[in-house]
Amino acid sequence: MQIIIYDDSQEVAIAAATWVQSLIKEKENPVLGLATGSTPIRLYQELVTMHKAGNCSFTNVTSFNLDEYHSINESDPQSYRSFMKANLFDHVDINQDNTFLPTCNQDQNPREQGLSYEKKIKQAGGIDLQILGIGANGHIGFNEPTSSLTSRTRIKTLTQQTLTDNSRLFSENELQPAMAMTMGIATIMDARYVLLMATGKNKAQAVKDMITGAVSANCPASILQMHENAVILIDKEAASMLNDQSYYQWADKQNRKLNDEFGFYHNF
Ligand code: PGA
Repeated sequence: MQIIIYDDSQEVAIAAATWVQSLIKEKENPVLGLATGSTPIRLYQELVTMHKAGNCSFTNVTSFNLDEYHSINESDPQSYRSFMKANLFDHVDINQDNTFLPTCNQDQNPREQGLSYEKKIKQAGGIDLQILGIGANGHIGFNEPTSSLTSRTRIKTLTQQTLTDNSRLFSENELQPAMAMTMGIATIMDARYVLLMATGKNKAQAVKDMITGAVSANCPASILQMHENAVILIDKEAASMLNDQSYYQWADKQNRKLNDEFGFYHNF
């Protein structure tokens, strides 16, 4: 794991945007894994700014989102499709026919929908760079604690903690879905690079469990310890419970020296 600690959430967003920009520049047909939630909003703002400045074109990008609520209409303002349109898709030159979310309506079989999503990802050549947030309970996507570490795209019932954490996004008379389709943990692990962003004090315990805890389904994000190219971008508050902060900062300095000498290295 590469752990990089930044002063604040804005710096985290800029760093993540630079990764996305590099992927888009380096690969002819880049495949991006996208996330929703509060954390990536600033990343998307940075990408829109880069795009408007002529520094980032999404014309060849295919994207796959981590998750989508079950039985929600795409046009519903609470759907993750609406979130992606509002925060990124409608502001850049991406071909929206090449943007995918793991949808499943009432009449569809979630198992078949999950399989078909996995197939689509494979057909696109696999995900080059997967953006992730982390839940306060250590979830990635909607893979709640106790999710199988080898799971694939499927339907999940959300935990009470996730429902409570996300209730801030729903008004009183809006129905908050309790089920979602989500990429599985193995689906996420198949991505060539994973970029997990975490900011704020309320993520500090989950970040600590992910980085220094045992690999366990109780903290799904801890599986990233087993990923060859996992990059963890966190601000000081999210890093506040880590014992080895000075080591991570020292290691980051050494990596920057290497980058200065040999260039920023990826193997997308
Ligand atoms: P948040 O959610 O960015 O809204 O905190 C992260 C997540 O649940 O993955």
